[in-house]
Amino acid sequence: MDNKTLIDQNQSTWESFWKKNPTGFDSIMKQATLYFAKTLNKKYPIQPDDHILDLGCGPGFLIDYLKDKCELIHGIDISEKYIEICKEQYKDQKNLSISVNNSYDHDGYNQIIVEKKINKVIMLSVLQYYKDLDEVRNLILYLKKVSGQQSFRCILADIIPENNSVIADLKSIIKNSVGKGHTIDFIKFLFYVFFSDYRNTKKNGMLHINESFFTNLGQELDLKVQIVKNLTVHSGRYSVIIDY
Ligand SMILES: C[S@@+](CC[C@H](N)C(=O)[O-])C[C@H]1O[C@@H](n2cnc3c(N)ncnc32)[C@H](O)[C@@H]1O
Repeated sequence: MDNKTLIDQNQSTWESFWKKNPTGFDSIMKQATLYFAKTLNKKYPIQPDDHILDLGCGPGFLIDYLKDKCELIHGIDISEKYIEICKEQYKDQKNLSISVNNSYDHDGYNQIIVEKKINKVIMLSVLQYYKDLDEVRNLILYLKKVSGQQSFRCILADIIPENNSVIADLKSIIKNSVGKGHTIDFIKFLFYVFFSDYRNTKKNGMLHINESFFTNLGQELDLKVQIVKNLTVHSGRYSVIIDY
């Protein structure tokens, strides 16, 4: 099997994994999302006039935290089921809109950014499921195309560097779950990680990206890029803020 076939297979595996709407993570993911949301709001406060695009919104945990703190929020995901859950849960939320978009639908993202006057794009724990670095580069490049019409900040959070240790990830999760009294959720999560589709899918790998990828791209595209530590529960991971 050649490299390209392998990469395509990985992509379709993660895509189909997420499209199946896995629920085994939900409580741990919710706690991790809440940690990020609170830390973000402390370091870079959400403004009442913010228009936010939550790219890869999943079942809507970030939406839940942000929806009453900003003027408008739009959620996108590749999983129809996650979007259905969000629509049902927040059907009375007037400042919220949601759509299913295909992976790498850059024109679709740009259209939403312009139409909804988005000034913050947040992508939390999504890039590790991207096919390869070219697609990450395309995302950053395409977002630049729309910045002539709408200036905005893009927060790419929870990025896994190449030397990341799984043990360190696990320790961070323990600290944030067991340490806060969610031991049963953590045990369920462990069972899920070891005895589900997740384990098989993960064998194909996740995308690891070094900080230099973003800083170099920032220089090449003349974009202001900041590397930020400790925005998410995973102490070995990092986040990137790009001002377009
Ligand atoms: C770990 S979950 C994070 C969900 C949410 N951002 C949060 O942190 O609460 C990863 C999400 O990324 C979505 N996803 C995976 N690949 C994607 C892609 N190429 N484009 C957009 N969303 C994607 C999945 O459907 C899933 O909802």
